[in-house]
Amino acid sequence: MKEQIEELLEEIKDLKAETIQDVENIRIRLLGKKGSVTRLFADFREILPEQKKEFGKMLNHLKTEAAEKIEELRSSVEEHSGDDKGNLDLTRPGDEFELGTRHPISITREEIISIFTRFGYGVAEGPEIEDDWHVFGALNFPPEHPARDMQDTFFISQGEDPLLLRTHTSSVQIRAMEKMKLPIRIICPGRVFRNEAISARAHCIFHQVEGLYIDKNVTFADLKQALASFAKEMFGDDTRIRMRPSYFPFTEPSAEVDVSCNLCHGKGCNVCKGTGWLEILGCGMVDPNVLEASGIDPKEYSGFAFGMGIERIAMLKWQVNDLRHYFENDVRFLREFEKVI
Ligand code: PHE
Repeated sequence: MKEQIEELLEEIKDLKAETIQDVENIRIRLLGKKGSVTRLFADFREILPEQKKEFGKMLNHLKTEAAEKIEELRSSVEEHSGDDKGNLDLTRPGDEFELGTRHPISITREEIISIFTRFGYGVAEGPEIEDDWHVFGALNFPPEHPARDMQDTFFISQGEDPLLLRTHTSSVQIRAMEKMKLPIRIICPGRVFRNEAISARAHCIFHQVEGLYIDKNVTFADLKQALASFAKEMFGDDTRIRMRPSYFPFTEPSAEVDVSCNLCHGKGCNVCKGTGWLEILGCGMVDPNVLEASGIDPKEYSGFAFGMGIERIAMLKWQVNDLRHYFENDVRFLREFEKVI
């Protein structure tokens, strides 16, 4: 038995394998049910009691050597073949992988952009980190206006000319008015930031699409027409809009726009809280001070602007009742939009 063990130890030392299958064959030959090491363990039972200690030790040593060698061969084969050559089964069916879904905010943004592009609007983008002038100053916010307050705005730096995260994409409209040739007809989609506590109805990050049209003789009627057409495209042909007087520093007059509730068709339900109307955006005629601040002559040109939250539009379109769903990316929520794409 001693000889057999020694022979096997020698053999193990010189073992070589090229493929995983070779390694597996060696394992079976040595440690398998009928393997040579296993057989020696069976023979061990017949050994005289006084020799058991010595042979037991030798056998255990042999078994460890065999196991270690097999592991060593396995890892060297795996390392060298990279894509487990030799084990590659070209007939194996591929793993199925699930398609992802587009995020409801992207779907809604694309739809809004596509509607306004068809109306002849271009798409403009600008920086998320802005200065006070483009977010507030040029938009006719008086120096002490509460919207500049630390409560609402995330400031990045302080001092004379602080940097901040834009609270609306109206900043992009200012940049467009400074640079572009007239007439201007653009929409500005983008991410905006406000220092608000996160709840079902508010978040510190959300998305907007704002629009701007400046030309000679642009009137409030043009604004109403553009928004009524948008509402029909977005929510269905039978959608009506209504305008309520409102206030924004950068528009005069200003209005809040509601669309007729597309669930109860104006009869009144839970979603519209019995009113038959859902608020979707703010708008107005660009204040002459804003035009002037960007170097446009208000005597010659006029314009309208509007701004909407994408989350809000998506909530109304699909009756999402909690804003936080949009940010948590729970796949069960995201899969709801599989059929929408
Ligand atoms: N900038 C406004 C907001 O973020 C929306 C708006 C844009 C209102 C243009 C009127 C005109 O709330």
